[in-house]
Amino acid sequence: MKYYIGSDHAGFALKEKLRESLKQEFELIDTGVSSEERADYPKIAFELAQKIARENATGILVCGTGIGMSIAANKVKGIRAAVIYDEFTAQMAREHNNANIACLGARNITEENALKITKIFLSTKFEGNTETGKKHLERIRQINKFEEK
Ligand code: RB5
Repeated sequence: MKYYIGSDHAGFALKEKLRESLKQEFELIDTGVSSEERADYPKIAFELAQKIARENATGILVCGTGIGMSIAANKVKGIRAAVIYDEFTAQMAREHNNANIACLGARNITEENALKITKIFLSTKFEGNTETGKKHLERIRQINKFEEK
């Protein structure tokens, strides 16, 4: 399974770290940026999010806080981008919300934490297809229906 990863300048160093550290376990395709030169996050988020929506894939976006990336990515139809910052939010974002993009803040979490929670996010499955998790699928359907309007 392939995953996409992108960042702005503030997230560049953490993106590189994640890509390098996780390459044995996950195929992470880098959509940029490739330096710490100023790069505004909306364009990066839109491009990666459109790929995710088209290919029904999963991705990671890194900026200073994770917030800007999530706001922008969530404008793309079919995207459920969640800011994750600890093990619990990483797990819940997948199990309950079926998030297809995790947004991380390079300026508010440590590298070690980022690595740990990215692994959790990428390896956790949505619970919506289980008997107890049906309610989560129903909620996603409500979001999808609203998005269709
Ligand atoms: C860039 O300085 C910073 O504002 C951006 O990376 C991000 O934190 C926005 O949400």
